[in-house]
Amino acid sequence: MHRHIKRILFPAKTIRKRVKTLGEEISRDYKGREPILIGVANGALVFLADLMRTLSYPAKIDLIRVRSYGQKASTSGLIAISKDIEIDIAGKDAIIVEDIIDTGLTIDFIIRHLEKNNPASIGVCALLDKSAARKINIKINYAGFPVINEFVVGYGLDYAENYRHLPYIGVLKPEIYS
Ligand code: IMP
Ligand code: MG
Repeated sequence: MHRHIKRILFPAKTIRKRVKTLGEEISRDYKGREPILIGVANGALVFLADLMRTLSYPAKIDLIRVRSYGQKASTSGLIAISKDIEIDIAGKDAIIVEDIIDTGLTIDFIIRHLEKNNPASIGVCALLDKSAARKINIKINYAGFPVINEFVVGYGLDYAENYRHLPYIGVLKPEIYS
């Protein structure tokens, strides 16, 4: 285990199994519709790569990236798009693939932004749901695991761009970010 990690929440094998069941659920729910996956970079990259390979249809993907201003370990509410999608989602089903939903402000901003492209539908698939930190009500169609209000890293999730490479998800020692 990395020396900055307090404890492991989800080992690689547990994540792999859960991602597979999420992919099966999505494939079943959208049978014959082939929704486009829109990953929120950079945090969701690892999840997106694994999820797309569990789907029973040839999924198209794209990436969106947002920047949030303010303190490091939480979302300020001041959000801007720093990289937009390039694929045309008009009239298509889209699923936003996110690493974690915390306050909900980021995903809410992304949903509003993507709605301007007139997709047929927008779903939300988040690997982690930190519901205790929610500031606005968000409907998560597919949630991997609930997490309590601690800062977690690994499997794409970072703190100051570190720890994304870890194959598991763990709690970061508070002394690292406080
Ligand atoms: P929200 O806008 O507060 O829902 O925050 C969403 C974004 O904040 C996520 O896409 C993550 O990039 C980041 N984030 C929130 N909580 C954590 C965490 O515990 N670890 C790593 N990143 C987090
Ligand atoms: Mg993120």
